[in-house]
Amino acid sequence: MKENKTNTNPALLEVQQLCKEFEGQKVLKGVTIDIRKGDVVAVIGPSGCGKSTFLRCLNLLETPSYGQITYEGAYLFKKICKEEKEAFLAAKSTVKELKNPKNAEKAAKKVAKEIKKSLPEADEEKLSKTLQSPMEEKLPLTEQERLDALTIAQADLEKAQKAYEKIKAEEKRIQKNSLKAINRHRQKIGMVFQQFNLFPHLTVLENITLAPRKLKKLSKKKANALAMELLKKIGLEEKANAYPATLSGGQKQRIAIVRALAMEPEVLLFDEPTSALDPEMVGEVLNVITELAKEGMTMVVVTHEMGFAKEVANRVIFMDDGVIKEENEPKAFFENPKDARLKEFLSKVL
Ligand SMILES: Nc1ncnc2c1ncn2[C@@H]1O[C@H](COP(=O)(O)OP(=O)(O)OP(=O)(O)O)[C@@H](O)[C@H]1O
Ligand SMILES: [Mg+2]
Repeated sequence: MKENKTNTNPALLEVQQLCKEFEGQKVLKGVTIDIRKGDVVAVIGPSGCGKSTFLRCLNLLETPSYGQITYEGAYLFKKICKEEKEAFLAAKSTVKELKNPKNAEKAAKKVAKEIKKSLPEADEEKLSKTLQSPMEEKLPLTEQERLDALTIAQADLEKAQKAYEKIKAEEKRIQKNSLKAINRHRQKIGMVFQQFNLFPHLTVLENITLAPRKLKKLSKKKANALAMELLKKIGLEEKANAYPATLSGGQKQRIAIVRALAMEPEVLLFDEPTSALDPEMVGEVLNVITELAKEGMTMVVVTHEMGFAKEVANRVIFMDDGVIKEENEPKAFFENPKDARLKEFLSKVL
């Protein structure tokens, strides 16, 4: 994939303004990215910046708080009423304040400012007249001025409420329709975890064939044949009947990759696939991922392996504090980083 730096394939996954909060803690703060067919996206960034949460949201293992995700154009998730909701709540509180003469001053100023912002300059003069001009400076407000401001604020509130309700209804509709899309999508996106997550009580072959048999309804014979073919590819066919506990870390992770591949995914997500491995086993796992990249598999790989990101990815992304701070093709990314935090991060890891 590396030579194809400007990938012009259509986007498989389109992510917009993805946000995730855990009990009020904002972990993802608006991640926007398109992942195109054949992309190998390396994601790097400091611990705790939200990389795993991002991957889990992509696969809907975690339900995002806000934002939208489409897969080949079909909505998997959409919740964007945040701004509309905030506008509605703000309008509601302005009306409430204006109703009370004691709090009216501040609120009236807000109304005047908001209206001014949304008007072309020529109308400003007209507005100052309508608002008895110096509403922004004048203290105290006359009763009439307060009532004028209240009328405007009430009209605003009505508009904001309509916008909020409209978008809420649309989101409800999308969420209902997306259940089917989510189920299809989940099967097209494989995920490989740092800790392999193989079932200890199942053999290698059983681990690999479980999902294809259950979810894709493959016959045992077909599932076994597919599994053996994949095992052969990574040179582990003699481990088919072994239990995970008897395998090395590198072998376990290669089996975990094969298990994901057995679902014939279109996208593979890797969350630090080599971080739990002894150094001498990192290479064998990265080789498998590199082979997949050469075959054109679309992948998002959270990794600390900068060499791998440089050599295999066609895009590298720096996440920090819940957002994508920088993205570039590998050469420019590593040789000419722009973001100050990225420079600092690279100086520590390179
Ligand atoms: N289920 C959860 N409940 C509450 N907080 C969570 C949950 N999952 C993640 N977090 C918090 O979200 C933040 C980001 O976590 P995340 O695992 O996405 O970071 P990361 O970039 O993958 O870090 P690392 O490099 O250490 O794996 C952390 O502060 C974490 O404590
Ligand atoms: Mg993580």
